[in-house]
Amino acid sequence: MKKSTKSSRTIITAALPYANGPIHIGHLLEYIQADVYARFLKLTGHDALYICASDMHGTPIEVNAQKAKIKPEVFVEQYWKEHQEDFQSFLIQFDNYYKTHSPENKELAELFYKTLQEKGHIYRKKIHVMYCDYCQRSLPDRYVKGTCPHCQAPDQYGDICEKCGSVLKSVDLLKPYCSICKNTPRLKESEHYFFRLSAFSKQLQKWVASKEANLQPEVRNWLQGWFEKGLEDWCISRDAPYFGFEIPNSKKETGEIKYFYVWLDAPIGYISSTKNYCDKKQLDWKEYWYKGKIIHFIGKDIAYFHLLFWPALLMDMGIVLPKVNIHGFITVNGEKMSKSRGTFLTAKDFLKSYSAEALRFYYASHLDRSVVDVDLHFDELKAVVNNVLLGNLGNFCYRTLIFTEKNYGKITAIAEETDLQIHVGELLEDIRQNYEDREFKSAVKNILKIADLANAYFQKAEPWKTKESAETKEALGFCVNLARNLAIVVSPILPVFSQRVYAALGEKKPLLWKDISFTWKGKVAKVAVLVDKIEEKKEETQKNEKKETKKNGNTALFPLHLAVGLVEEVNDHPNADSLYILKVNFGPLSVKQVVTSLKKILPKTAFAKKKLVFCVNLKPSKFRGEVSEAMILGVDHDDTTTLLEMAGAIPGETVVPQGMAANAAQISVDEFAKVEMVVKNKRIVFGQKPLGTAQEKISVNLKDGIGVH
Ligand code: MSP
Ligand code: ZN
Repeated sequence: MKKSTKSSRTIITAALPYANGPIHIGHLLEYIQADVYARFLKLTGHDALYICASDMHGTPIEVNAQKAKIKPEVFVEQYWKEHQEDFQSFLIQFDNYYKTHSPENKELAELFYKTLQEKGHIYRKKIHVMYCDYCQRSLPDRYVKGTCPHCQAPDQYGDICEKCGSVLKSVDLLKPYCSICKNTPRLKESEHYFFRLSAFSKQLQKWVASKEANLQPEVRNWLQGWFEKGLEDWCISRDAPYFGFEIPNSKKETGEIKYFYVWLDAPIGYISSTKNYCDKKQLDWKEYWYKGKIIHFIGKDIAYFHLLFWPALLMDMGIVLPKVNIHGFITVNGEKMSKSRGTFLTAKDFLKSYSAEALRFYYASHLDRSVVDVDLHFDELKAVVNNVLLGNLGNFCYRTLIFTEKNYGKITAIAEETDLQIHVGELLEDIRQNYEDREFKSAVKNILKIADLANAYFQKAEPWKTKESAETKEALGFCVNLARNLAIVVSPILPVFSQRVYAALGEKKPLLWKDISFTWKGKVAKVAVLVDKIEEKKEETQKNEKKETKKNGNTALFPLHLAVGLVEEVNDHPNADSLYILKVNFGPLSVKQVVTSLKKILPKTAFAKKKLVFCVNLKPSKFRGEVSEAMILGVDHDDTTTLLEMAGAIPGETVVPQGMAANAAQISVDEFAKVEMVVKNKRIVFGQKPLGTAQEKISVNLKDGIGVH
């Protein structure tokens, strides 16, 4: 048997999705989060395995298979295949994707059970279960609904209250009803198997407080609450009919066949999937599970299972305890995903309108170590992809590679830019740390900082003016190295983007972190499009086309880049009585400082917490030592100034004259002054075209003809 030779073996897992429905954009938050982490570990030379499987057991699957008139074994296989296709289409790269209804999992579940028995941690007890006379079956877990005894929330399932998070037993529910036929069930006596969780209270508390567990602070608080309530022993068996593994000897011991509760064998599925992989590769799964590191990515709804039951089982098995990384839930446009609002999107639905890397980039730029919910806002998705991913990172890599290919075809010399290189080097080190800490949001911010520096460098070099000079060629040499390094560090998030950069550079294999350098020379081939732009919705595009927009590509260019910014802070300039310093949020990835001289005219409340229109492609300038990175727009009239407020817009959204495209290049104040925007019919117009976002036009209650400054 081969031994894994690298020192740092790590198993990364994401929760095993139920083979009972399609993968949706909520699930994808987790599978993308874990994928980015796994790809990062591999990029930095770790022996990491990203392991997952479909969770195939339990009552819902048994009931749905019955409804569909298919055997549960066949029913789950269909989803097993479908899940794998969906994961692949989002570039989620498992080293093994297995299943819990497998011989390996049966064998390991029985091994766990035997070990727990030997340790004296399993006992039998007669309890009351819910039985529906109408359906003629016992009703485990989610098959009884009723009112939560802790918080009185109605219509909760018999295993967990979604309102207050309490773990329940179905017999605890007030006003219970059968979720299949809605009749009131009765209690029936049945003998069941219990795991002595209470015996682990002390050990678990010690683990939770330990440095190795490294739990997120809010998670530690939940656990504190659970410990204070006291841990109850856990019922690990279920009555027939149940799709699962039979408990050995249960018929002999209780007179009836009992099955392992799905949550007993589901986490064991992490190990059996690893075993399945290792057997194929002639490796030993124990090298990973007994000697390596384990990290589970899960959602907040299944924290109890992973932080109490599972570690206790592992303690009995003598397996090293895992790290558990918990994320919040996805909301869509600010609300819970819902089929009726059309915001319950499956993986396949999403790909009809957007690319996989759009979602990967959006999720990565919102993920950090906190357990807060992540809102997938479709307007923001568009702004982030078009303005940030395409406009900043994509733009730099693309124009650098295209310019080089077209004019030189290869890089033979590289400019020496010691200061910039040191600065970029520091940012690269930060990015590495951000990934390691699972602070992907900060990793993205720092990657974009490098892209900003790179874009400014390219712009300053003005290569289109002096193509043939040695200096320009060397500057492009430096740019190509920057693009290559950016592709490496962004590859955990955007593997296809990176692949396309590598292809242009003639790299045969994906590069590793250690390949980062500023000395690369070689041929540069034509690069493929790196980022798919999110186009306006079809209807809107059609509408616009009828009016005046020419087709894609030759859309008329507006000389400015105007964007909506949310003013987060208004402060007095320390050295100038007439100036305010604003902190303005242009989306989650860019907060800019803006200096304005409107202090003489407007109070702080005219700015604070408002969404206003700014020009963001002016060259930054300094006002009494404070840099201003954007300029606020306003209309002067009657000794005052009206700011352009867009309350319904998203920070970062672009504002353009209808049918025109914003200009990405920097401009001077003189150039800005030449752009004539005036009030007309309570709108701001450029030519005859009203300014606004895709959803909303700017509206002002002012007389025609006044100009915007
Ligand atoms: N089968 C169990 C996990 C067993 S692990 C040993 C399960 N499956 S699930 O399909 O319901 O969920 C899989 C993962 O997706 C869970 O971690 C869950 O938190 C996550 N999500 C499901 N819906 C989600 C959102 N709307 N948003 C974010 N994550 C969500 O639980
Ligand atoms: Zn019933």
